[in-house]
Amino acid sequence: MKDITCIEDLRLIHKRRVPKAFFDYVDRGSYAEETLRANRSDMERLKFRQRILVDIAKRELDTTILGEQASMPLILAPVGSTGMQYADGEIHACRAAQAAGIPYTLSTMSICSIEDVAAHVEKPFWFQLYVMKDRGFVKALIERAIAAKCSALVLTVDLQVIGQRHADIKNGLTVPPQLLKLKNIIDFATKPGWVSGMARTKRRNFGNIAGHLPGAQDLASVSGWVASQFDPSLNWKDIEWIRSIWPGKLVIKGILDVADAREAVKTGAEALVVSNHGGRQLDGAPSSISVLPDIVQDVGSQIEVLFDGGIRSGQDLMRALALGAKSCMIGRAYIYGLGAGGQEGVATALDVIGKELSVTMGLCGVNRIADIDRRVLTDYLQTNAISSPRS
Ligand SMILES: Cc1cc2nc3c(=O)[nH]c(=O)nc-3n(C[C@H](O)[C@H](O)[C@H](O)COP(=O)(O)O)c2cc1C
Repeated sequence: MKDITCIEDLRLIHKRRVPKAFFDYVDRGSYAEETLRANRSDMERLKFRQRILVDIAKRELDTTILGEQASMPLILAPVGSTGMQYADGEIHACRAAQAAGIPYTLSTMSICSIEDVAAHVEKPFWFQLYVMKDRGFVKALIERAIAAKCSALVLTVDLQVIGQRHADIKNGLTVPPQLLKLKNIIDFATKPGWVSGMARTKRRNFGNIAGHLPGAQDLASVSGWVASQFDPSLNWKDIEWIRSIWPGKLVIKGILDVADAREAVKTGAEALVVSNHGGRQLDGAPSSISVLPDIVQDVGSQIEVLFDGGIRSGQDLMRALALGAKSCMIGRAYIYGLGAGGQEGVATALDVIGKELSVTMGLCGVNRIADIDRRVLTDYLQTNAISSPRS
């Protein structure tokens, strides 16, 4: 990992090391990928105000996230099938996050189960919940997260129906999976490191589900069950129910609209995540960064506003903090590290982003995370660039 200087380096190694079907699963977005692209292009339009001759010798990145101390304002986002990017990937990613002093979020759709990750890491992690139609299963999953001492529940609310990703269909990541197409087999043969890792582990199915439902054991039956279980009827009343059975901190993830942010505040959740699911759901939705300022302005004093979508550097992290995010999640940026080199790759991704943030703060004349605000940006935002829809 010593020649790695940026997240794009990790992405290119990930691409070489991991089969195309799984790389595309991470890298691509839904439909025409307009929102995926907007997450990046709107981010890049925000320009920093360089400040000089300020004493920046003692810069500190530490902060609190949901009241807990963290080494920097960053969280590893929930990413389904992480254990298909690198054998036992969830355990590697969680260990890297904990060593770096930031929270890790385990997806409902993880390969390693809640109990498995808990048994292999030292500290509590966050758990992300998809509310399935089978509410008995959901209740049992929450009880398992409580038993594993998960320190926050991230309730993802932007996936009542699934946005189509064309690449996944073409690659055979379908229900049931059709991975053993000739082109995939030829591709697997060119990825020996990945193949040998996956051959050595037993963790190759959705660990939170397989074995926890009668009849759902192999990958085909589990993925069939999951596909039939996303609930289009999910609504705010269900969130009240979740709140009543989850005693810990609640984070509502997938908010893009001020009106929905206000509803999230009413649930009593501790935090919300401004997110468009990394451009994987509603294509044509605005970039997360473009809607962040209005949401912060409206509800930022009542709830902790977190952010994700398009962060690939410490500069991007600083941009989101400047527009009012308290902390940010990253998805792809750490998965590229994982695919490139397991725990060490994730650690490298976090190190890269932390150092970039520190230098960016310095060159903007800022020493502490709490001092980052809009003043670190030029007035480009107000005069030119991104505009957000008002409620
Ligand atoms: C491959 C992949 C799988 C994902 N799976 C989940 C998931 O299981 N649950 C969830 O809430 N979000 C999921 N997300 C969305 C991320 O949590 C996060 O919102 C998104 O990755 C942020 O955008 P970024 O990748 O540009 O950082 C996934 C994202 C990716 C890239």
